[in-house]
Amino acid sequence: MILGIETSCDETAAALVTQDGKILANVVASQADLHAKYGGVVPEVASRRHLELVTPVIREGLDEAGATLDDVDVVAVTTGPGLIGALLVGLSAAKALAWARRLPLAPVDHLHGHVASLFLEPTSLEPPFTCLLASGGHTMILDVRDRGWQSVRVLGTTLDDAAGEAFDKGARLLGLGYPGGREIDRLARDGDANAYDFPVARVPGLDFSFSGLKTALLYAVRDLSEDELDARRADLAASYQHAIVRALVERVREAAERTGRERIAIVGGVAANSALREALPEADAAPLALCTDNAAMIASAARWAQTVEYPRYLALDAYASR
Ligand code: KG4
Ligand code: ZN
Repeated sequence: MILGIETSCDETAAALVTQDGKILANVVASQADLHAKYGGVVPEVASRRHLELVTPVIREGLDEAGATLDDVDVVAVTTGPGLIGALLVGLSAAKALAWARRLPLAPVDHLHGHVASLFLEPTSLEPPFTCLLASGGHTMILDVRDRGWQSVRVLGTTLDDAAGEAFDKGARLLGLGYPGGREIDRLARDGDANAYDFPVARVPGLDFSFSGLKTALLYAVRDLSEDELDARRADLAASYQHAIVRALVERVREAAERTGRERIAIVGGVAANSALREALPEADAAPLALCTDNAAMIASAARWAQTVEYPRYLALDAYASR
């Protein structure tokens, strides 16, 4: 049994997953409400909250799985990329548990975790495939040749904002709550996606750029009175979402064509977007709960990660960026 721990951003999460990919427990404590009043994640506030939540969340995971620490064979933890203070809380907890039990520890890259959300039962996906990873911190096109992180090649990435960041910043301009992706997704259902023609920058290769789009929305909103904005908010949300989705869909299809892969998959928080899922009916996607940050995906990735034996992992460090 693998105990997974994830604290890279504003979700404190623990999960228990078997070696063959069955989820026994998957507990996620979101701090979104705590950060909402600031309009985004405040790193130091996140670290302190992780510290309060990490032990109860792990305990709840074990309870949910009907297990104790005696049943755990490996401790898996996200070591990066993410907020450094937040990562260190999860890593310290993982080291302490593994050390006390003389267990091996598996350091997991958060992005490998997102990809490995596709390798969980009952719908485990078989590589190779072209993967769009779109979250609050990253937007990448990946060629997934096999399940280990060393078999994943980055084909394209964003030159500025991540897709989720574009959703969050757009939501803020529209006066919606944080995190904004889900809010825009919901509001867009009542709007006309063709009401506004928002541009998406076409950059060479398989890269993305979303910063211009955000500026276009800023200008559109600035020209409206309070009442007009109220009347057009759903149209703006739908058109803005449409532009992001179009950029993502175009690029991932292009990448699949270039690599000759038959299958496309989408992962990360933005993969929960209903318009994106509709626009890519041929794509495999993880269940909604496994798209946004969770620890089941971290435990899943650990199945193909190099474990570090007791006590060498005490020297492991977290990293903020790739
Ligand atoms: O993967 P994730 O939970 O955390 C990171 O690793 O960043 O992704 C969070 C991002 C946020 O930007 C959030 O607004 C976005 O995913 N998101 C969505 C939806 N649900 C979450 N974006 C669009 N539509 C959604 N339904
Ligand atoms: Zn993530």
